[in-house]
Amino acid sequence: MKQAKVNISLSKVYIDKALKQSVLKVLDSGRFILGDESRAFEEEFARFIGTKFAILTGSGTSAIWLTLMSLGIKEGDEIIVPSHTAFPTVEPILNLKARPVFVDIDDTYTIDPAKIEEKITRKTKGIIPVHLYGHPANMAEIARIARKHGLFISEDACQAHGAKFKDRAAGSMGVAGCFSFYPSKNLTVCGDGGIVTTDSSRINKEIRMLRDHGRASKYLHSVSGYNERFNEIQAAIGRCGLKRLDAFNLRRREIAAAYAKGLKGLPVVLSQEKPWAYHVWHMFVIRAEGRDKIREYLLNKGVETGVHYPVPCHLQPPLSGKEKQKGLPLTEKYCSQILSLPMHPMLKDADVRYVCRQLRAYFHDAR
Ligand SMILES: Cc1ncc(COP(=O)(O)O)c(C=O)c1O
Repeated sequence: MKQAKVNISLSKVYIDKALKQSVLKVLDSGRFILGDESRAFEEEFARFIGTKFAILTGSGTSAIWLTLMSLGIKEGDEIIVPSHTAFPTVEPILNLKARPVFVDIDDTYTIDPAKIEEKITRKTKGIIPVHLYGHPANMAEIARIARKHGLFISEDACQAHGAKFKDRAAGSMGVAGCFSFYPSKNLTVCGDGGIVTTDSSRINKEIRMLRDHGRASKYLHSVSGYNERFNEIQAAIGRCGLKRLDAFNLRRREIAAAYAKGLKGLPVVLSQEKPWAYHVWHMFVIRAEGRDKIREYLLNKGVETGVHYPVPCHLQPPLSGKEKQKGLPLTEKYCSQILSLPMHPMLKDADVRYVCRQLRAYFHDAR
């Protein structure tokens, strides 16, 4: 793909003076791992989500992985999960030698509750709904099915900091919620990082132990654990971001509304916000025929776009061909049509107008 100088980026990290000062303060403090900043970030994040506990981990992937370990997932267990998600949703299931059982999505791009029950077997232990692009999965329906079949729900909220299903925050409705702080996310720590939210004191205790070498105390290790700890610099950065998260999510919502208005009438399918959802627009995703041509056209006009995701999890090499995955028509169709337009809170109204103008020009020229 020919690359023009990109001047409207797909995502962007907000860095201000207060954030830089918070980093310098940590450097001067002499405490770098799991100290006061990490503790405060955990407390503030738990309060924000509305859970009793929040446990920082090395990444969103390790948040999912340690959660599954704390739930006792082992070889042969089955976990229901959408295939239309980031591969790291599924990796921890595979790495525990359990089996991801894939379910198709609906028009929200999240798991279709109507397709879950047909995939449940005696080996099914839980469901991982993914609040993809910042839109919550239909948690009322998923919770009803989980209750009926005695399954746990562990939410993948890696793209949904601040999203809500009705008045409940993403990450507060399952036995645990898993978040990522990767730089493109709605809340970042300017590096890798993750957090688990939960009301369960058992899961809280277990994950705290697992992330820190299985420690019961400084030199006593109850189990052989891992190093998935958090550092103070990133906790300080996360605390700065958390203060702005609501305002930044509101700005994302304004931008989404401006895109919807600006793209009206074009042959593209816009993402919708269900009446029960508070969408935080981690991504602004459209669907269109000729997606790759549109991408190239926009890139030549200085607009960076993304595809989340071009290859569904069930077709990734570690899974592809190993077992047949039936009944994923929307997952397989949408991956060739989806396109993520620039979305971050620093986008200016003029940037959004420019992107919409370029898309209009593309469809005009293509006629
Ligand atoms: C839906 C989803 N799940 C899991 C992850 C994994 O998070 P991380 O990159 O922090 O390990 C990500 C982020 O890439 C994600 O978007």
